[in-house]
Amino acid sequence: MSDTTTLDIVELLLTAEIYNKYPEMDVNDLPKNIRKNYWSRTQKGVPKPISVSRSDIKKLFGIEEIKGQVFALPFLDIDELTSKMKFTSFDVAADWFQKQETASERIDQNPALAYYFEEKKKVAGASYKKARAVTRPKEVDREWIESLISEISEEETGEDMLKLVHIMAPEDIVQPMRSLVLSEEQKEEIEKIVKAIEYRDYLKRIGLYDIGKILLVGPPGTGKTSVAKAMSERLSIPFVEVKLSMITDQYLGETAKNIDRVFALAKRLSPCILFIDEFDFVAKTRASDEHAALKRAVNTLLKAIDEISLTNDGVLLIAATNHPRMLDSAAWRRFDEIMDFPLPDERMRKEILDIVTREIEGDFNTEGIAPLTEGYSGSDLRMVIRESVLNALVEERTSINQQDLSDAVNRFNKRAHIKSDEYVVNTGGF
Ligand SMILES: Nc1ncnc2c1ncn2[C@@H]1O[C@H](COP(=O)(O)OP(=O)(O)OP(=O)(O)O)[C@@H](O)[C@H]1O
Ligand SMILES: [Mg+2]
Repeated sequence: MSDTTTLDIVELLLTAEIYNKYPEMDVNDLPKNIRKNYWSRTQKGVPKPISVSRSDIKKLFGIEEIKGQVFALPFLDIDELTSKMKFTSFDVAADWFQKQETASERIDQNPALAYYFEEKKKVAGASYKKARAVTRPKEVDREWIESLISEISEEETGEDMLKLVHIMAPEDIVQPMRSLVLSEEQKEEIEKIVKAIEYRDYLKRIGLYDIGKILLVGPPGTGKTSVAKAMSERLSIPFVEVKLSMITDQYLGETAKNIDRVFALAKRLSPCILFIDEFDFVAKTRASDEHAALKRAVNTLLKAIDEISLTNDGVLLIAATNHPRMLDSAAWRRFDEIMDFPLPDERMRKEILDIVTREIEGDFNTEGIAPLTEGYSGSDLRMVIRESVLNALVEERTSINQQDLSDAVNRFNKRAHIKSDEYVVNTGGF
C-alpha cells in the first residue's frame, strides 16, 4: 500500500495533467489547495499549463525530501536539472491511482479527477457533479480577492474606491453560521435568502426581481454583523463592508460621490455581499436640519439602493441598524426582508455561553448563569466569559469555576449601570 504523501503527489500530477489537457476544465475544477498554489494574481486565475516541481510539492504538502518510494513508481519521472516531475505514461498512472484504497475518497473531492474518471474512464461511482458541489469556488479564496483588489487599484479612481470599504474573503471569516445562536425565525429568514440566491435565475425568469436587500434590526451586540459575515461564508462570496460614518466623516462634499464609488466597487467585486453598517445615518440626516451635502448624500444612497440588484448585479445588500424607529418609510420600503435581532432569551443565552466556553476548561455550568444575565446581548456574554478567564489567569489558573462566572456577571452589572446612567444624560433619554 502506498503512503499518503506518495498519493498526494500522484493526485497532484494527475490533476495537473487533466486540467491542462481538457479545455473544459476551469479553475474551480482544481481542489482548493492546488488552485491556491498555482494562482496568478495578474491573470486572476490559474493559467494553463501548470507544471509540478519539487518546490510545488514542498509548498503544498510540506515535503522536503521526496522519498525513494516515489522514485520507484514506474510511471513517474523527475528531471534532475529542472526538478520538474512528469508521468512517463498518464494512463498507467491513472490506473495505478484508481486501484489505491483511498482513491474513491480523493476522487469525490477533486472535480478534475472526478471528471476524468467519470467521463473518460466510465468508472462507476465517480461523480463530477458531486465533487464540484463539495469544492468551494475560487471566490472564497484570499487570492481571488487580492487579484480583484490589485486590478482595481491600478485604475484611475481605484484607490479612492478601495479606501472606503473593508473587504474580506469567505475563508477568512472566523465565525461561521453554526457558531452563532439563532432563533428559529432567524434561521428561516436566512434559509429563504440562501435559497433565493441559489434560484436567482428562476426568480428572474418568473419576474420576481425584488429580492436581495435585507435590513438587520436590533440592539448592539446581538449578532447582526456576525450573521452578515457568516452569510458570506455560507454563500462563498466576498464580504464588502462599508460604515456610513466612514464615508461622511472626512470631506462632506465628497459623500455623495463616495456612495456612488462604493456601489460601483460592489458591482466590480460581484458576486458579493455589500454590508452597510450604521444605516440609521439615513434617518438622522433626514430628520435633522443638516447640511445640504448630507441630504444629497442620503438621496444618492437611497437611489443607489434602488438601482442595485441581486439578479442583475450579483450584489446581495445587507444593511444594519440599532435604531429602527428612526427610519422612515422611504428607507424601510427599500428592503424586501427585515430580520429582527432581539436580545437573546434565557435558552439562547445558555447556548451562546456554551459556544463561547466550548474550548475553556473548568468546573462550571452555564445553566446557572443564563438566568442571571437577563438583558445581556451575545456580545455582553462574550465579555463576561473573557472577564472570567482573565481573572482566573491573574490567579495563575487556566480553568474557570462557577464563582469566576458569577463574579464577572456582577462586575458587568455594575459597569452596565454606570454606562446606562451616562447614556441617559448624554442622549436625553433617547
Ligand atoms: N446570537 C449570537 N450567537 C453567538 N454569538 C453572538 C450572538 N450575538 C452576538 N454574538 C457575539 O457578540 C459579538 C458581537 O456581535 P456583532 O458584532 O455581530 O453584533 P452587532 O449586532 O453587529 O452589534 P452592533 O450593533 O454593535 O454592530 C460577536 O463576536 C459574536 O460572536
Ligand atoms: Mg455590527
